[in-house]
Amino acid sequence: MWSSAVLSLRLRASCYQGNRRSLATVISGNKTSRLVRERLQQEVEKMRTLFSGFRPGLVVLQVGDRDDSNLYISTKLKAAAEIGIDAKHVRLPKTATQAEVLQSVLSVNANPSVHGLIVQLPLDSVNAMDTELITNAVSPEKDVDGLSCVNAGRLSRGELGGCFLPCTPSGCMELIRQTGVSVAGKHAVVIGRSKIVGAPMHDLLLWNHATVTTCHSKTPDLPAQVGRADVLVVGAGRAEMVRGEWVKEGAVVIDCGINHVPDETKASGKRVVGDVHYASANQRAGFITPVPGGVGPMTVAMLMENTVQSAQRFLLKNRS
Ligand code: GUN
Repeated sequence: MWSSAVLSLRLRASCYQGNRRSLATVISGNKTSRLVRERLQQEVEKMRTLFSGFRPGLVVLQVGDRDDSNLYISTKLKAAAEIGIDAKHVRLPKTATQAEVLQSVLSVNANPSVHGLIVQLPLDSVNAMDTELITNAVSPEKDVDGLSCVNAGRLSRGELGGCFLPCTPSGCMELIRQTGVSVAGKHAVVIGRSKIVGAPMHDLLLWNHATVTTCHSKTPDLPAQVGRADVLVVGAGRAEMVRGEWVKEGAVVIDCGINHVPDETKASGKRVVGDVHYASANQRAGFITPVPGGVGPMTVAMLMENTVQSAQRFLLKNRS
């Protein structure tokens, strides 16, 4: 009787330990982006000393007045100022015509003191706008968002050194590198095929030698696809869409989502969540990015990296 009670307690204890799984290691975008920004600050300081006060120049062109864009832009301008990048915000009214937007792009293209130009998306205009036409008007040499077809084409062919990498996928790769897990030979799954996240993420993983599956709204049996991923990158734009139960044990999970969901416990009445259900994915992943504090800050850091790189290329071409 006594011994069976002890046995049963021991069994329960060992089951508990057996069932209890340690949580995933959190990959901090806040920490990694701070390291990138500190390095860039030193590089800019060096350029300033070597080239008599030279500073990389960045222009953020905005059409309209979206609250989310205003917030993203102010974060970019603050990061630039801290690094020593001379960043300017050019805002056109909602009533601007496409021709006026194009004219602004061309005038920044022609300004030699600007090394990086981004057109904040989406365009918030009362007029019809061809976003593709506008992003393609940005000179490839200044396209630090990597959204022009020249830079996207180079990336799709694996010419990684010759192009600007789009900032969010580039930040995701940096976070994956932080885990020490090499993507070469692994099965990577990307959810979403947007021009700004999913499609370039696919290319970057591919040319870093992963076998890549890209899923989208028409992909059948998404849970099965997710279950095959050693590395999972989610840029679907749907709050907590990926459930933890789908995730392969030990996978690297990178969440690019920024979604606002109602939360009565918050003063604002809402909170930010990713595209991955964090609490459940944390139980199965080996590594996971939080939202906020994961991919978001890396996107900003990579924009700064591209701008500094563009300024360095400019100096190499013009001042050596
Ligand atoms: N809107 C949301 N994210 C981005 C970004 O990374 N670049 C641009 N240009 N627009 C955005």
